Amino acid sequence: MSTNRPPKRRVLIRHAAIERRVREVARQITRDFKGQRVHLVGVLKGACFFLVDLAREIDLETSIDFIAVASYGRSSESSGQVRMLKDLDSSIAGLNVIVVEDILDTGLTLNYLLRLLRQRRPKTLRVAAFLDKPARRVQPVKADYIGFTIPNEFVVGYGLDHAEHYRSLKDVCILRLPRG
Ligand code: IMP
Repeated sequence: MSTNRPPKRRVLIRHAAIERRVREVARQITRDFKGQRVHLVGVLKGACFFLVDLAREIDLETSIDFIAVASYGRSSESSGQVRMLKDLDSSIAGLNVIVVEDILDTGLTLNYLLRLLRQRRPKTLRVAAFLDKPARRVQPVKADYIGFTIPNEFVVGYGLDHAEHYRSLKDVCILRLPRG
């Protein structure tokens, strides 16, 4: 018998804690790039919320651009393949680029992006990941700025989705998915 009950979810990180942490990360970036301009590259769509909040708290001249890659599709497991869906609008040559990611999971997406962006000769290339799930790492890759390190759970909210649902939740929640 099939049920259409939505999967259960449990709050992992409350919005107030997210706001506090985003301010701290922004302060760290402001200190590291004092007197310079930073170019934030958001990875669509998951990083949107983090990028917007971060950009408003960084006390430097900032510019933003977006890139879109496909990795998960409608499933909660990575396919192991990354492909570009939307490239950047403008050149990053000579810029202080910070790649803004929603979550670092297997590391495949970030590895792909860093390889691609390095070829475009930015002045500096750093990574700000809202969440880090180190237990799932397949490829060794590290973020320079991390919002929260979380356990090996599938999470949604604050930009993170499951099949395009739950992105606009203010808290980050663990989603209990049926096995299969
Ligand atoms: P990676 O390539 O395995 O590091 O995965 C990167 C992408 O997978 C992220 O940018 C997310 O879009 C998605 N992803 C990984 N873990 C989760 C999760 O727990 N919830 C929602 N999306 C996730």
